[in-house]
Amino acid sequence: MALATTDQIRSRFPALRRTHGSNPVAYFDGPGGTQVPGEVPVAMADYLFNRNANAHWAFPTSAETERVRHQAREAMADLLSARADEIVFGPNMTTLTYQLSRALGREMSPGDEIIVTELDHHANVDPWRALAVERGVAIRTIPLIPETGTLDLERFPELLGPRTRLVALGAASNALGTLTDVAPVARMAREAGARVFIDAVHLAPHRRIRVGEFHCDFLACSPYKFYGPHMGVLWLRSELLEGLDVPKLEPAPNEGPERFESGTVSAEGMAGTAAAVDFLASLAAGGGSKGEHHHGGSSPRAALLDELFSALVPREGALLERLWDGLSSIPGVRLYGPPPTEDRAPTLSFTVEGVSPRDVSSRLADEWGAFLSHGDFYAATVMRRLGRHPDGMVRAGISIYTTPEEVDRVVEGVGIIAGRPA
Ligand SMILES: Cc1ncc(COP(=O)(O)O)c(C=O)c1O
Repeated sequence: MALATTDQIRSRFPALRRTHGSNPVAYFDGPGGTQVPGEVPVAMADYLFNRNANAHWAFPTSAETERVRHQAREAMADLLSARADEIVFGPNMTTLTYQLSRALGREMSPGDEIIVTELDHHANVDPWRALAVERGVAIRTIPLIPETGTLDLERFPELLGPRTRLVALGAASNALGTLTDVAPVARMAREAGARVFIDAVHLAPHRRIRVGEFHCDFLACSPYKFYGPHMGVLWLRSELLEGLDVPKLEPAPNEGPERFESGTVSAEGMAGTAAAVDFLASLAAGGGSKGEHHHGGSSPRAALLDELFSALVPREGALLERLWDGLSSIPGVRLYGPPPTEDRAPTLSFTVEGVSPRDVSSRLADEWGAFLSHGDFYAATVMRRLGRHPDGMVRAGISIYTTPEEVDRVVEGVGIIAGRPA
């Protein structure tokens, strides 16, 4: 079955009607947060206008709130090929990761070890590093190979030891677009008795995720990076959920995902998250099909998500290649991360000789209507290793609504900026 055309997809995003100066806005800031299709705020408004309540009470709006929350867990279960009772919601990935690090840290003692990487967003580094101060845990680091933008995974076996308690690894780099084959690393770590945390924030908008195939214990992502609202999601194995020493309030539920959700989670955000997953599935269906059950990705919605991602990967890949080829032909432009011949995310960071990333970004916005992020993208170690600290890079993120014309506009703009630095 064919994926909806880019025009059909674009018609569902109200933000794409925005103009800046004389240009329609081209949003290349997806790695920092994507635009939302109309269904997402509609679902959130429907919740707030018609069902707004807290859960666990004996009246209809409370029952409807519980249903909304459950449906959001089912939707995320389909997206991650997991079980609904293993899906935890929170304000964002960083907060959930800090909370998990507190829970896991309670089981750690001085001399225990955690392995992090130089390639990761610091949301998957600093919560673990905090345990060095709090629990006396030793932090070991998988190095980045600056020339390739990939991790030096050959170093991993020597970093792994009998005291390794956790390995924290990113599946896709939000700075360089690198994909890391996490499964063999996770398998080796778990065989050695360590737990494995995967940051899939940058992977979720671009690849079909099947948590079972990653062999990890925990996986986090953020719906606002895949066309949903600002929220974070953590998947964890159900046997761990029951056993973890989670910091929580005394009367809060002690079973299921709510055990991990301290306080009242945004139910409107959960409604919007479910709408974002349904939106993605509808692109393969040509309609808004909803999941009916949720065991290991076997619902109709999960099957549609399979189709969506298998059609989306080559489409986004072709746009990335067009962008790479265009930018690499401009003198003075330097591209980072793996070339498009590698399996990589469609996120391309670059610099222009003699022009600061901030100036490149602001000129692209003002003169070409192209919104590109600049800076370190919280991947500060990557920037240090690549000699780009503190200014960072400019980042072009291809999203589901990106067109070849928009890519060409960025290439034209960068060509002019590189040729005539202001
Ligand atoms: C790869 C990656 N990990 C983690 C995060 C942090 O996510 P959140 O903003 O949900 O805390 C981001 C956000 O940019 C990211 O790109």
